[in-house]
Amino acid sequence: MPVKPTKDLDMPIQILGTGSYTPEKVLTNQDLEKMVETNDEWITTRTGIRERRIAAEDQATSDLALEAAKNAVDASGLGAEELDVILVATCSPDMFFPSTATIVQDQLGAKKAFAMDLSAACSGFIYGLEVARNLLESGRYQNALVIGAEKMSSVIDWEDRTTCILFGDGAGAAVISREENSSGGLGPCELGANGALGHLLCIPGGGSRKPLSEEVLAEKSHTIEMAGQEVFKHAVTSMTRTAKRLLKEAEWAPEDLALVIPHQANQRILEAIRSRVGVEKDRVFVNVDKYGNTSAASIGIALDEAVRQGGLKPGDKVMLLAFGAGFTWGGLLLEWRSPV
Ligand code: UT7
Repeated sequence: MPVKPTKDLDMPIQILGTGSYTPEKVLTNQDLEKMVETNDEWITTRTGIRERRIAAEDQATSDLALEAAKNAVDASGLGAEELDVILVATCSPDMFFPSTATIVQDQLGAKKAFAMDLSAACSGFIYGLEVARNLLESGRYQNALVIGAEKMSSVIDWEDRTTCILFGDGAGAAVISREENSSGGLGPCELGANGALGHLLCIPGGGSRKPLSEEVLAEKSHTIEMAGQEVFKHAVTSMTRTAKRLLKEAEWAPEDLALVIPHQANQRILEAIRSRVGVEKDRVFVNVDKYGNTSAASIGIALDEAVRQGGLKPGDKVMLLAFGAGFTWGGLLLEWRSPV
C-alpha cells in the first residue's frame, strides 16, 4: 500500500546531542525476592522489568544528571559555556533548594546559563523539552540543556512490594538549539494535567503539607504511594489519546513513525498503547526490562540509547509519550535531524 505523503513540519528547534547515565549497581528481581514477598515471575509478567539500576549512597540526583549532561554536551559539539538554559526535570531532587539544575550548572561549568528544576514527575522530560523549546523560539536564547534525572531509590519504601519492584535510578539529557536553516526538529507537542487525581500517585509527607516528623517517618509517608491499577488505566487512556491527536495534527499516519519512545513504566502499558495507536511492535522502544521506571529520566535514557544504537536516521519521524503523577501527561513529535 503506498504511504501517503506526510506534511512537512516547520521545526527550527533541533536536538544537537543526547546523553544518559545509569548507575553501576544492578538490582535484579532475584535480589528483590530476598527483600520482599515477591518473585521474578510476578514482576516479569506484570511489568516486564527484570532489573533496575540503583545509585550509590554517595550519589545524588545531580551526580546522575551531571554524567548524562556531559555526554549530551559532548555529543552536541557545543561547549558547556555556550548553554543559555539548563532545566532539570526531577521528583527526587538533591534537596528542596537550591535546585538540582543549579548544582549541575556549577559542576558543568555552564557559566552563562540560567538554571531551574521542573516538577512534572514521569512527564518531566517532555515538559522540559516543550518549555525549553518555547524559550528558544522566543529568540532570546540559543541553546538549552534538558535533563531528566532521578534517584527514585531514595523515595521508595523498600518494604512495600507494590512499589519497590517498579522503580530505578538514572538520567537522560538532550541539548537543543535554534537553527534557522535546517530541516527536521521538534514538532507538535501536547501537554496536559489533571490535578484532581494527584492523590492516586504521590509522596504525601515530608513537604510543607506534612513536614518531616517522627509520625511521617513511622508511617513512611515520605515515600511513594500509588493506586497501581488506577494509574495504569489513566496512563493508557491519556497516552493513547495524546498520540492520536498529535498524529492528526501533524497529518502523520501511525506507519510513518520510525520510532515511538514512551515513558518506560510497564511493558503492558507500552503494549496497550502500541496496539491502540496502531504501531508495529518493532517501532516501540523498550528498555523497561533493564532499568524499570526511572520517572523523568526514562525518555531521555531511551532516546539516547536509540541514538547510540544507530536506531535513528536523518528524517526519521519519532514520537515521545509520557504519563506521570499529577496526573500529568505529554507527547512530542520530532523529525530526527537531517544534514543541513
Ligand atoms: O510512572 C508513573 C506511572 N506509573 C505506572 O504507570 C504504574 C501503573 N501500574 C502498574 O504498572 C500496575 O498496576 C502494577 C505493576 C503496579 C501492579 O500490577 P497489577 O496487575 O495492577 O497488580 P495488582 O495491583 O492488581 O495486584 C495483583 C496482586 C495482588 O494480590 P491479590 O490482592 O490479588 O491477592 C497484590 O497484592 O498481586 C499482588 N502483588 C504482588 N505479588 C507479588 C502486588 N505487588 C506484588 C509483588 N509481588 N511485587
